[in-house]
Amino acid sequence: MPKINAAVIIPAPTSKPVYKELQFAPTTDDDKTTVKVISTAIYHLVRARALGKHYSVSSDPTESLIGVDGVGIDESTNKLVYFANFGPGQGTFAERVNVSKRLIFPFPKSIKHDDYETIDRVAVLANGSIASHLSFSKRALNLDKIKDLTVLIVGATGTAGKIAIEISKLTYGAKTVYGVGRNFSKLQQLQNEVKILDDIVEVNEHVSEESLIAKFESLKDIDIVLDYTYGTLALSTLTALIKSRKDSTRLLQWINIGSIGGDPISIPAGVLRSQNFYLLGSGIGSVDFAALSGVFQTIVDDVSLGKVGSFFKAQSADSKNIVDEWENWDPAFKKTIRW
Ligand SMILES: NC(=O)c1ccc[n+]([C@@H]2O[C@H](COP(=O)([O-])OP(=O)(O)OC[C@H]3O[C@@H](n4cnc5c(N)ncnc54)[C@H](OP(=O)(O)O)[C@@H]3O)[C@@H](O)[C@H]2O)c1
Repeated sequence: MPKINAAVIIPAPTSKPVYKELQFAPTTDDDKTTVKVISTAIYHLVRARALGKHYSVSSDPTESLIGVDGVGIDESTNKLVYFANFGPGQGTFAERVNVSKRLIFPFPKSIKHDDYETIDRVAVLANGSIASHLSFSKRALNLDKIKDLTVLIVGATGTAGKIAIEISKLTYGAKTVYGVGRNFSKLQQLQNEVKILDDIVEVNEHVSEESLIAKFESLKDIDIVLDYTYGTLALSTLTALIKSRKDSTRLLQWINIGSIGGDPISIPAGVLRSQNFYLLGSGIGSVDFAALSGVFQTIVDDVSLGKVGSFFKAQSADSKNIVDEWENWDPAFKKTIRW
């Protein structure tokens, strides 16, 4: 029997969300289950996909439900779960959604169904965590052969960059992690907040290339760069980094994850030839999400039990206020929508 389900959709060709009641029928497909949604986060990927601006989505002339993932109750098991549900005709910003069982990941039993602080933290941090997990576990080359792994995070002051500091060290065994950012006071704040960060590097138009090279010369040679920004911040970092390397034959892997700092950049041929340098990327398309159950489960366990991300505190808003929340969205405030 179809039920009424409140949901948030973006009716084409507008770019504004609408809170609407829709008919909903629980799934009859054995491979799917119905999730009663508790919390969904608004973040860059959710917005870019909803507006048809992300490379992973083709512009669709029909109305579509927004959202990529969330936390809710699996109605077939009554378990608290993290779930992902994106692709044509799918989404997560609704009271109930039908989800593939392969993309449902239970919380540890110790987490109560009304532990909203933990639920919101997982909703906010899962996507950012996936970025670094996939980079290390599915994209980086020869990770197990790197001795004393040294990681540089470009865009370290953002949500995904910040959690990557902990994931690099606590999950993938990095010995040293440095953070690059455009704003020095935010970098200092980050260092105070995340004590395991080894050093910070300010990169902007006020920092000369010479002083940037000198800064990198004072640090260890980098093995893996996690680049959340692309654009001029990434290019200035890359250029100085390459010129500062003590051992040009040591493998340097630059993994692009986001392009919030602008697109595209042009890399001089000399950069490619003068170093043992690999440029690659990580995101939807370059890895098979359906084959990542281990990664998703690790993220749910580690974030919900506070192994990583315990310093994040999300704010929440009622789903009925989605239009205001969407229009006044500020990535600095980690917001979830409660259903
Ligand atoms: N591929 C994946 O799997 C994956 C997963 C998660 C996220 N991402 C992408 O990664 C990027 C960062 O996500 P996030 O959640 O960390 O975002 P966020 O919390 O909004 O942080 C944005 C970061 O980028 C910096 N930044 C913003 N605009 C910039 C500019 N014009 N030039 C240089 N730096 C700039 C910010 O610096 P300030 O702190 O100084 O403002 C901050 O460090 C987004 O593009 C997101 O879509 C990709």
